[in-house]
Amino acid sequence: MIVCSCNVLTDHDVRTAVAAESRPRSTGQVYGCLGCSAQCGRCARTIRKIMDEALDASASACGGCAGHAES
Ligand code: FES
Repeated sequence: MIVCSCNVLTDHDVRTAVAAESRPRSTGQVYGCLGCSAQCGRCARTIRKIMDEALDASASACGGCAGHAES
């Protein structure tokens, strides 16, 4: 799904950038990681949301805090 029509970035591109070694932590860094920069800014909220989801997923994947939950 295209999330940024100015730079033609997909949600997959954003997830790939978030998982990259440079670990972008702001939307600006994500654009930079993908070799572009924010144009109209309309996609910033969507990109932020995808970043948050991706970071949440990787946090729970490590089993860190979730491992302490009582069951
Ligand atoms: S839609 Fe992403 S900068 Fe315009």
